[in-house]
Amino acid sequence: MEIQGELLYTGKTKQVFTTDNPEQIIIHYKDDALAYNGIKRAQIANKGVLNNKISSLIYNKLEEEGFNTHFIKRLSDRDQLCKRKKHLIQLEFIVRNIAAGSMAKRLGLKTGTQLSTPVYEITYKSDELSDPLINEHHAVALGLSTYDELAEIHDIVRRLNETLKRIFAEIGITLVDVKFEFGRTADGTLVLADEISPDTTRLWDTKTLESLDRDRFRKDLGKISEAYEEILNRLSEKAIG
Ligand code: C5P
Repeated sequence: MEIQGELLYTGKTKQVFTTDNPEQIIIHYKDDALAYNGIKRAQIANKGVLNNKISSLIYNKLEEEGFNTHFIKRLSDRDQLCKRKKHLIQLEFIVRNIAAGSMAKRLGLKTGTQLSTPVYEITYKSDELSDPLINEHHAVALGLSTYDELAEIHDIVRRLNETLKRIFAEIGITLVDVKFEFGRTADGTLVLADEISPDTTRLWDTKTLESLDRDRFRKDLGKISEAYEEILNRLSEKAIG
């Protein structure tokens, strides 16, 4: 039984606690919803429970497929046990299969435009600067990573996108885009970190093109927890079936 220790960190949507094992942490999922770099905020009842369950199912799948991740196991409705990262890389790695969100806006593309190749973006994790888009040279020049590490991550991100596209396609969902984060554990292993959920992806019902993700909150489309629940139900049925 894992014993929850002291609060290490309070993030926008999660809290991180120590455990009795110095190499493990407990990540606690809250109900806070944020958009536009925290300008828009709300509480969505049960969102933390849904994201914890969705992310746990996805991480279990990714572990099965051989990816190195921080995930160990889900402990309860809102808590999961993860490997402690000695170093969290201060970059976000976004992959886009279809134009939407900031890319559609920046490049004047219609939302839903098919991209002939996945588009890989890097942003610098900085609340003060609103996570600006950068490239690999900025990341190296700022001391946030190295060319070797970025090449290793790029290969993982490319494979993660292919794997997640397949997992979602099997449940009638199109993976429009997704954000990944990485860290290193005490022994130096590069691991996938943070959640993978409707908060960190764009997920469209393949038949109806309905958004089943955080865009429902961003764009005031309503039925947010219902959409997240739909993703959880489809993933759970697949996991059982
Ligand atoms: O807003 P934008 O179109 O750049 O987001 C691309 C993808 O990355 C979306 O799935 C979004 O939810 C995710 N993202 C995220 N956390 C951020 C920025 C973007 O999960 N800080």
